[in-house]
Amino acid sequence: MHVARTIIETRVAIGATHWAGDTVGLVPTMGALHEGHLSLVRRAREECDFVVLTVFVNPTQFAPGEDYAQYPRAEERDLALAEAEGVDLVFAPSTEEMYPEGALTTVHVDELTEVMCGPSRPGHFDGVATVVAKLFSITMPNRAYFGEKDFQQLQVIRRMARDLDLPVEIVGCPTVREPDGLAISSRNAYLSAEDRRAAPALYRALLAGAGVASRGGRAEEVEETVRAALASEPRFQLQYVEARRPDTLQRDDLPGPPLVIAAAAYLGTTRLIDNVVVEKDSPR
Ligand code: PAJ
Repeated sequence: MHVARTIIETRVAIGATHWAGDTVGLVPTMGALHEGHLSLVRRAREECDFVVLTVFVNPTQFAPGEDYAQYPRAEERDLALAEAEGVDLVFAPSTEEMYPEGALTTVHVDELTEVMCGPSRPGHFDGVATVVAKLFSITMPNRAYFGEKDFQQLQVIRRMARDLDLPVEIVGCPTVREPDGLAISSRNAYLSAEDRRAAPALYRALLAGAGVASRGGRAEEVEETVRAALASEPRFQLQYVEARRPDTLQRDDLPGPPLVIAAAAYLGTTRLIDNVVVEKDSPR
């Protein structure tokens, strides 16, 4: 497994791969790898000849006061896990390599970034879109793999790739959960034992909302169901719950699916997000 720290080294290695006619699959991460990340790596390994994992805690997607400094970093372990999964190249650049002095360009995706997590995380999706555009440019993937866990992020990246004609197929992958339903996240490590016990209530509340949606409920009713279900777990402080059309993240007056039901909630100081997608032909 090749560990590259520089853009030029990465371009040379991947250029040779394309020259040989091999397909390149990219899995962008911020490291502290867990089963959610590894599910993306495995999918890429199945579908592509050459698998690239990027590990970069991207400062521009953290707002002031968020957990950039405390974000878990575990590079040695990440490299061992990547190697065990058969990753071909890890790109793990320094902040200076990715953001040399004087960069003036950002990528902004409109509308999709104004709802759900947008208002509470100003600038977050610009940081994500910009770094992912840079990673696409550096690693030139045929396919790039993202988790539905971060559903809004996935839709923002799909839209960016479409609007900028980026020659990459965006592949969305299902959320990997703990046996009790909690979506796996690097931030789960911050939870106290009691908060960890309370945490699966978020997914249960979303499933209650999904039941209402699949029976033809309106977005407002779906949201109200999730709110009421989560109220039974007083440790949670709900930030938002929104039921929206999965592709546009807009609202319309029609009842029922397809809907993405997404929520963000705090347990203590830890912010958890999760979502459930109810497809149009889902069983009632
Ligand atoms: P990070 O939070 O490290 O997540 C990397 C990828 O793993 C994302 O596509 C995310 O949706 C996916 N992922 C995380 N938890 C998952 C789970 N439980 N099941 C399935 N997939 C999961 O998302 C980012 O990093 C960054 O914003 C990034 C895209 C790398 C840009 O900096």
